[in-house]
Amino acid sequence: MRVLVTGGAGFIGSHVVEALEACGHEPVVFDVRDDPEADVRDPEAVARALAGVDAVCHQAAMVGLGTGFTDAAEYVSRNDLGTAVLLTAMAEKDVRRLVLAGSMVVYGEGRYTCARHGVVRPGPRDVTDLAAGRFEPRCPVCGEELSPGLVGEDAPVDPRNVYATTKLAQEHLAAAWARSTGGSAVSLRYHNVYGPRMPQDTPYAGVASFFRSALARGEAPRVYEDGLQRRDFVHVRDVATANAAALEADSAAGALTAYNTGSGEPHTVGEMATALAADHGPEPVVTGEYRLGDVRHITADSSRLRAELGWKPEVGFADGMREFARAGMRGA
Ligand SMILES: NC(=O)c1ccc[n+]([C@@H]2O[C@H](COP(=O)([O-])OP(=O)(O)OC[C@H]3O[C@@H](n4cnc5c(N)ncnc54)[C@H](O)[C@@H]3O)[C@@H](O)[C@H]2O)c1
Ligand SMILES: [Zn+2]
Repeated sequence: MRVLVTGGAGFIGSHVVEALEACGHEPVVFDVRDDPEADVRDPEAVARALAGVDAVCHQAAMVGLGTGFTDAAEYVSRNDLGTAVLLTAMAEKDVRRLVLAGSMVVYGEGRYTCARHGVVRPGPRDVTDLAAGRFEPRCPVCGEELSPGLVGEDAPVDPRNVYATTKLAQEHLAAAWARSTGGSAVSLRYHNVYGPRMPQDTPYAGVASFFRSALARGEAPRVYEDGLQRRDFVHVRDVATANAAALEADSAAGALTAYNTGSGEPHTVGEMATALAADHGPEPVVTGEYRLGDVRHITADSSRLRAELGWKPEVGFADGMREFARAGMRGA
């Protein structure tokens, strides 16, 4: 298959390119980083790039939590306008297969249970609670502490920041495209992706990058909140093979299918900092700081991806973090 990989010069996209080559496919990179004219918002550039293409793997996006609300228009432009332009060109060129880089951020706080009230959905986190060090979400009915569970694909969506909103809109656009063209769309809702070539820390990077960059400077990783936030850290090579599997699968036509893409092995952010610092320290410090828009816990149930696409993560937490602690990162 000839596959257009948008964002193919990025962290995850570059690994997708390698995974596709390893499976005998022909990836074509489309990324503004490499070529200023390769912008997904440019209808003519996209139309040219789609010539002879069988499928699109759409990784291009502006990522991270950003700097507050000020870059909202840029997120919407790159992520949603970009996706709309891409899908329009695919409809015109009759390219009917799309795999989208989705995100677990669409779930917001995810799934919790109260001992008395069963499954509940805590609302947005309150600044006074966070400032007072009350990080655990509470039951909206009785105010007791909740236990976090695994989110399935059918969990209600609840984007909590601009980036999350744009990632959800990408899925809705892809679903609308699939319905009107009969194409098949798969959204791989990645959890926290880490590994070689992860970008160095900027406001747009993920937590593993912040810690890894601090260690590279000889500084202690600064762990926000109390370090007990739970995440699913999934290795970038596993995410890349999930993309290859999704591109090869016979997915439903006329619809979008979503798959959580996680390791299935939840860890706390504090554990991740400790694992990264293990070899060449300094020990992480837990600071109690917080970022508005962060969720407390979010961990995936990725069993649908395993069952339906036969995918299986190969890189475990300890091995992956050991490798990442030494791996090269990408400069800004
Ligand atoms: N890193 C994670 O943990 C994570 C988690 C969930 C989802 N995702 C998604 O995975 C995808 C890849 O993210 P990444 O972590 O590799 O980020 P990245 O910044 O390394 O890669 C994104 C690439 O997209 C390119 N790009 C941005 N705007 C573009 C445009 N308008 N036209 C063409 N190219 C453009 C950038 O140049 C960059 O190379 C994104 O869609 C992101 O939302 C990432
Ligand atoms: Zn309750």
